[in-house]
This record gives sequence, C-alpha cells and structure tokens, in this order.
Amino acid sequence: MEASFWHERWQRQEIGFHQAQTHRALESHWASLGLQAGQRVFVPLAGKSLDMLWLATRGLEVVGIELSPLAVDNFKVEHGDSPHIDLRCGDIFDLTPESLGRIDAIFDRAALVALPTEMRKRYVQQLDRLSTRGTRSLLVTMEYDQREMPGPPHAVNPSEVQQLFGETHDILQLDYVDLLPESPKMAARGVSRLGERVYSLKRR
Ligand SMILES: C[S@@+](CC[C@H](N)C(=O)[O-])C[C@H]1O[C@@H](n2cnc3c(N)ncnc32)[C@H](O)[C@@H]1O
Repeated sequence: MEASFWHERWQRQEIGFHQAQTHRALESHWASLGLQAGQRVFVPLAGKSLDMLWLATRGLEVVGIELSPLAVDNFKVEHGDSPHIDLRCGDIFDLTPESLGRIDAIFDRAALVALPTEMRKRYVQQLDRLSTRGTRSLLVTMEYDQREMPGPPHAVNPSEVQQLFGETHDILQLDYVDLLPESPKMAARGVSRLGERVYSLKRR
C-alpha cells in the first residue's frame, strides 16, 4: 500500500476503518496483559483511534505513529492535547528504537491487516526492532476469504500470525467474533464470512 493511498483516504475522509467507540478487545482483554499505570504503549498506524484515549485514561503513556498529518490534526482538534498521548506524524518504517523510546506494550488494531502481504513481514520485523524481550501485545486480525475481496483490510489467518510471530513470540488466541452481521459494507463488497480474532503476544 503506497503512502499516497492513505493520504487520499484521509483527504476524502474515506475512513470506514475508524470506529466511533473504543475497540471491544480493550475492555475484554487488555487487563490480561498485566500492565501497570505509567507503562508505555505503542499504537502503530494509529489513525485517530479512540483506543489511544482509552489507554491513556488507564494511566498508561501512549505513543502512536500515523502517516497522515490530517489524521493527527483531526485527533488533536477532536480531543485536544493530552500530556499522556504522544501521537506522532510519520512513517513507522522510519522509527528507530532511540526515536521511539522504550515500549512495554503494543496495541495493533487495523494496523497489521492494513498492509499487503510483503509489507506485513517488514512491519513485524520493524516491531521486533522497536520492542524488547517481555513486550506484550494485543493484536486484532480479520479473517475472510481473500478471493472474495481485495484488501485493505487484508485477511490474516492464524497460520500467518504463527509464521510472522511464532519464532519470536508466545502466542495466545483470546477471542473470535463473527463480524459479518455488523459489517454490511463488507457484505456488500462480496464477503460471505468475516471474523475478527484477538491474540495476546509476548516477546521472548
Ligand atoms: C486501517 S487504518 C487504522 C487506523 C487505526 N489503527 C484505527 O483502528 O482506526 C491504517 C492507518 O495507518 C496509517 N498508515 C499506513 N501506512 C503507514 C505507515 N507506513 N506508517 C504510519 N502510518 C501508516 C494510515 O494513514 C491509516 O490511518
């Protein structure tokens, strides 16, 4: 996915991926990661997600990276500046461990699945570079028959999660939700089965 694709999506406000509420996986599963107030959570490909606010209200320090300056501006206009949310405008692939700083956890919703196959490998390598032993992640993926619809969001099945993270992470499947009943737009695009799976990852 080229940067221009995302810039255009934001310019046209074609942001169907943005949710008007916090993602349910946070309420249901975030606590199982066992983070303490004051720890630092990285939100890759952050958009203007309300999930950042939810994490910050739990006493966590949030650092997000987002390519589109419009998304970053939208977030700041809609929610103001928070001393606990550092939403940066830039390309995740340009971050270094030094520029990002230490992170304790990662929340990935609509980030891995936003990227095409080859970029997903690069993305996971970049997350590995930016994290350390013990870093915990909550990962949300989408599952459907990729032949029925081109992404994004791209389908990422458990076998791919195993391939991408298995060598470096302990992986636990936490949840699977049938998303089709609440996704009429995806159904209209031809998808006959749509699921969302939530994983807990721990970097070894
Ligand atoms: C599908 S959206 C998901 C946004 C957010 N995670 C959410 O749940 O609403 C993907 C976002 O990643 C941003 N993005 C795409 N490629 C990026 C990159 N290389 N570095 C940083 N952000 C990127 C896009 O501009 C877009 O806002």
